Amino acid sequence: MISFPKNFYWGAATASYQVEGWNENTDWAQAAKDGKVPKAGRLADHYHRYEEDFDIAKELGHNAHRFSIEWARIEPEEGKFDYEEIEHYRQVLQALRKRKIEPFITLWHFTLPLWFANRGGFERNDSPQVFARYCAFVTKELGDLCTHFSTINEPNVWAGHGWLYGAWPPFKRARILGKKLGKDDGSTRRVGAIAKNRHVLTYFKVERNLVRAHIEAYNAIKSACPEIQVSVVKHVRWFTSDGRISNRIKAAVMQYLQSGRYMKKIHRHLDEIGLNYYRVTKFGDNKNYLKTDMNWDAFPSGIYGALLTLKKYKKPVFVSEAGLADADDDMRAQYLQIQIAHTAKAIQAGVDVRGHMYWSLIDNYEWALGVDKKFGLVHVNYQTLERTIRPSALVYKKIIERNGAGG
Ligand code: BGC
Repeated sequence: MISFPKNFYWGAATASYQVEGWNENTDWAQAAKDGKVPKAGRLADHYHRYEEDFDIAKELGHNAHRFSIEWARIEPEEGKFDYEEIEHYRQVLQALRKRKIEPFITLWHFTLPLWFANRGGFERNDSPQVFARYCAFVTKELGDLCTHFSTINEPNVWAGHGWLYGAWPPFKRARILGKKLGKDDGSTRRVGAIAKNRHVLTYFKVERNLVRAHIEAYNAIKSACPEIQVSVVKHVRWFTSDGRISNRIKAAVMQYLQSGRYMKKIHRHLDEIGLNYYRVTKFGDNKNYLKTDMNWDAFPSGIYGALLTLKKYKKPVFVSEAGLADADDDMRAQYLQIQIAHTAKAIQAGVDVRGHMYWSLIDNYEWALGVDKKFGLVHVNYQTLERTIRPSALVYKKIIERNGAGG
């Protein structure tokens, strides 16, 4: 059995829009009204049922939980902050603390307040300051109850879906040398996205603003609350190859564009790093892998390569998301065991991994794909709101109890 460091954080993650319900004041809710993405509505009603969900997390042995704050609830109008919503999230944090579950807050996980999106969102030059003002406000209000704050969830995935593939708001699809980006294979919806060359340039502009947004937020948070540990949550797809030189070059270029580039610009403004891992691309490898319900190759061991790409930044890392959609729950237990064994291997190879948070605690809204993709350790019946623990969650519980990879 592989042992993890003492005080290792074990748990799961969620994000506000995906589980809370009724986040109507956002760009995603507007896109749903426009018929471009599925409606979210009540979902798991986690906004009112977090106590019940944290009881389940506790029962499953978790000692950490990652969740996000809905920006549109806190700042429903530009510059106006809602103290009742702050009070709500204070209660959420107290509910975790009461159960001895360490909170990890993400300040922004994909959904924007409608007013911010309508005035141009992260395309605007002043967006980093607007974002930093919100982050400083939240950390000042909640910093006594939480030490770990992430600024942005997956900057490149978000910008890529919005400005390259046209699958998420603001639905801008890019064209390069006459070729539309994003596969038209039915794996996502892309309602009304029109491909244009100039969207590539806007993508880079948005990426630049997301770099500045993180740095401005980092500085604002640290000057208000120096003890807070600030991170970015970075999606790292692990690009590798069959070893042929041309494929090795392709893998290196893609690794740089997808994650190295962003990290290079912000790594001096980080206290720790969150890693979201889901996928591998192996250039030159035509093998058929088992597929998850997202039709992604099931490749849990790839977390090792993804974690190693972060070693050079010499920061504590926590796995902020990793998991799979598996409605039948017949792959999840083994997937988790392999994922955790390879996380241990990365620790042995010198990556300072401090925690592992499976995605996701409960079933949720999988963005443009709606609620059919089941990532949860816990099944949610959307009619009755009944929660049912999936068997794989108990395998994870055993691993946690042993603080190691034995199932
Ligand atoms: C996101 C989650 C999403 C998950 C599965 C991550 O990219 O942070 O919001 O549900 O992947 O697709």
